[in-house]
Amino acid sequence: SGMISVSDLANKMAIKSSEVIKNMMNIGIIGTINHILDQDTAQLIAEEMGHKVILQRENVLEEMIMKDRDLGNNISILRAPVVTIMGHVDHGKTSLLDHIRSTKTAFYEAGGITQNIGAYHVKTDLGSITFLDTPGHSAFTAMRSRGVKITDIVVLVVAADDGVMPQTIEAIQHAQAANVPVIVAINKIDKIDSDADKVKNDLMKYNILSEEWGGDNIFVPISAKTGKGIDKLLNVILLQAEILELKAVPTGMAEGVVIESFLDKGRGPIATVLVQKGNLNKGDIILCGFEYGRIKSLRNQSGDEVLSAGPSIPVEILGLSKVPFSGDIVTVVRNEKKAREVASYRKEKSRESKLLKQNKINLDNMFDNI
Ligand code: GTP
Ligand code: MG
Repeated sequence: SGMISVSDLANKMAIKSSEVIKNMMNIGIIGTINHILDQDTAQLIAEEMGHKVILQRENVLEEMIMKDRDLGNNISILRAPVVTIMGHVDHGKTSLLDHIRSTKTAFYEAGGITQNIGAYHVKTDLGSITFLDTPGHSAFTAMRSRGVKITDIVVLVVAADDGVMPQTIEAIQHAQAANVPVIVAINKIDKIDSDADKVKNDLMKYNILSEEWGGDNIFVPISAKTGKGIDKLLNVILLQAEILELKAVPTGMAEGVVIESFLDKGRGPIATVLVQKGNLNKGDIILCGFEYGRIKSLRNQSGDEVLSAGPSIPVEILGLSKVPFSGDIVTVVRNEKKAREVASYRKEKSRESKLLKQNKINLDNMFDNI
């Protein structure tokens, strides 16, 4: 953990080094101005001298490792929008994605769908879109609370026969809190009991308004069963993306986010990573939350090994020390040994703060019991 030289400590207190050296002697430490003090000792001395100690973010190594990254040529180019499909249970989210994937993704024509990757990059005639399947509300919330933004656009699926339901409202609240534009896909319009107008009316209460009513949400009636309206939906998504002008630097060391992760008994920890910046390559050394590793292999959504992946592209990676959390940031760094040190430092810090919290809770309980 933190170290500081006598002269630096003196500087921070705006006093002469000799004053510090004198106080060191009081507690039995003999040293010159270049003497290095550990954090506890430095803190003790400073407090003895009447100074209030504020511990800085002392992970110098982490800062160094981040500064030492190659960030590419700094020229950003358009990237595919990242779209999260949300909505109430059984309103047809998966069916919609299935339909899009089966009609738009060349990968799947050969068969062999890999189910464990929760993100799909599809190519349409008008452009590419990355869909996120897994982030249910909890993952979405977790990422948002950690300040990780992965979604550019939310497609809210509402079944026209069922209407606005609790999870529809929840999804709207998440999207609005994250300030993400919402496109409404009114689904199941092939059903005779479907009522698209009712959905539109009911959504007004939640500030989801179509353009003709003065809002900025676009409504697209679709059927995930027959495929009706889905091309229109894709166009609307791409138009929205154009307005957002989504760009990223595609060169340099990659940065991304873990979408999901699990432990494969045979292959070890596996994470689906959405690349957000730069280029992620086989062989890259990564820091990923509390974990680190060298990427042994990258697989695309159809399970084929690839050598690299750029912005908005989801890939499954192999080679991490342990299973990371979804929402963890992935950063490519130069040095594996240092990556390991930073990862274990982060772990230690989190353990410490958890302990602190626990102690605080114990104290609180103690007072409660008095
Ligand atoms: P969860 O993942 O459980 O939240 O559900 P989901 O939103 O993914 O719904 P899913 O795609 O599994 O669809 C639920 C049911 O609705 C299935 O039986 C689908 O076949 C049916 N369904 C989905 N879309 C349509 C549609 O456009 N028309 C009709 N008639 N049925 C649909
Ligand atoms: Mg589903």
